[in-house]
Amino acid sequence: MSLKPPPYSRIAGTGGFLPGDPVTNEALAMRLARSGIETSDSWIIERTGIKARHFANDNDVCSDLALQAAKLALQAADCDATTIDLIIVATSTPDMIFPSTACIVQQKLGVRGCAAFDVQAVCSGFVYALTIADSMIRTGAASKALVIGAEVFSRILDFSDRTTCVLFGDGAGAVVLQSSDTPGILASELHADGRYANILCTPGTVSGGKILGDPLLKMDGPAVFRLAVNVLEEVARSVLVKAERTAADIDWLIPHQANIRIMHGTAKKLKLPFEKLIVTVAEHGNTSAASIPLALDDAVRRGKIRPGETVMLEAVGGGITWGAVLLDL
Ligand code: UT7
Repeated sequence: MSLKPPPYSRIAGTGGFLPGDPVTNEALAMRLARSGIETSDSWIIERTGIKARHFANDNDVCSDLALQAAKLALQAADCDATTIDLIIVATSTPDMIFPSTACIVQQKLGVRGCAAFDVQAVCSGFVYALTIADSMIRTGAASKALVIGAEVFSRILDFSDRTTCVLFGDGAGAVVLQSSDTPGILASELHADGRYANILCTPGTVSGGKILGDPLLKMDGPAVFRLAVNVLEEVARSVLVKAERTAADIDWLIPHQANIRIMHGTAKKLKLPFEKLIVTVAEHGNTSAASIPLALDDAVRRGKIRPGETVMLEAVGGGITWGAVLLDL
């Protein structure tokens, strides 16, 4: 018997979870108006494509959302949690400083022993986590991974800053990624440029029992916007070259769901028709690391993306970080 691991990893099931009822732009605008902050449904839709987002209730933490998405992914993969040998949670809004949210999810799933850790790459977190899981599976370090993107961004939003608080929402998405003799993940690539750390950050920290600095999200939206379209095109092209495919081979493009204008810009640069874009930003808002697995799960469950189709996932976020994964479902 060969000890060599199967050469590929493949997605076996997806899951997604959005907490509570949708909070529409109108409802959010009314809430902000009570504090003298002016915004409107028309501004938010026109500039971002967002119509609503979900906010977790005060008692729910990141691992609660992650657990729901994980359970659905396990169910879709027809897989028992005890057979999972790796859990990665991509999040920037963990339950605690430590232990990792992945360890808490493991405990909530009622299993123990397997490797579990968090990945912090903000909105690129899921693409980073999936790439790490793929690498570990292909080297034989794991054979069945639960890869989760989960966020409660509502906890770090500054509701007195209309330039950011209307953009983000809470949610979780998950996939079961398992070893396979046939290719699922075809190629991936990750990048970061720390020179831009300040354009999207939550600068606060904890020291000596106190919060030091501002623990709320700050973003220079136009600066992120300008970088986003360029890096997303570049990384998608580079991953296609690695996989020896062309843009014409992409059945579906799932970009990080931050802004419909960035998504359209990326599709246009790749010469992909807008019909090939999976768009959930209208209903979900920007859920950071959760946005791609949530969009993937939504499209799979609606029967839009079918087994065997080729999907490009790509993200950009704080760091700044960016990356892409090309896969056959
Ligand atoms: O998830 C990680 C990656 N993040 C992103 O990809 C986000 C990238 N950036 C963006 O999506 C966009 O830059 C935003 C949606 C954040 C902003 O859109 P924009 O078209 O770049 O608008 P802007 O920041 O240039 O602001 C335009 C105007 C300003 O007013 P003046 O200076 O022109 O009078 C803002 O004060 O819109 C005003 N504005 C608002 N008005 C009503 C900003 N936020 C709001 C608001 N409601 N919520």
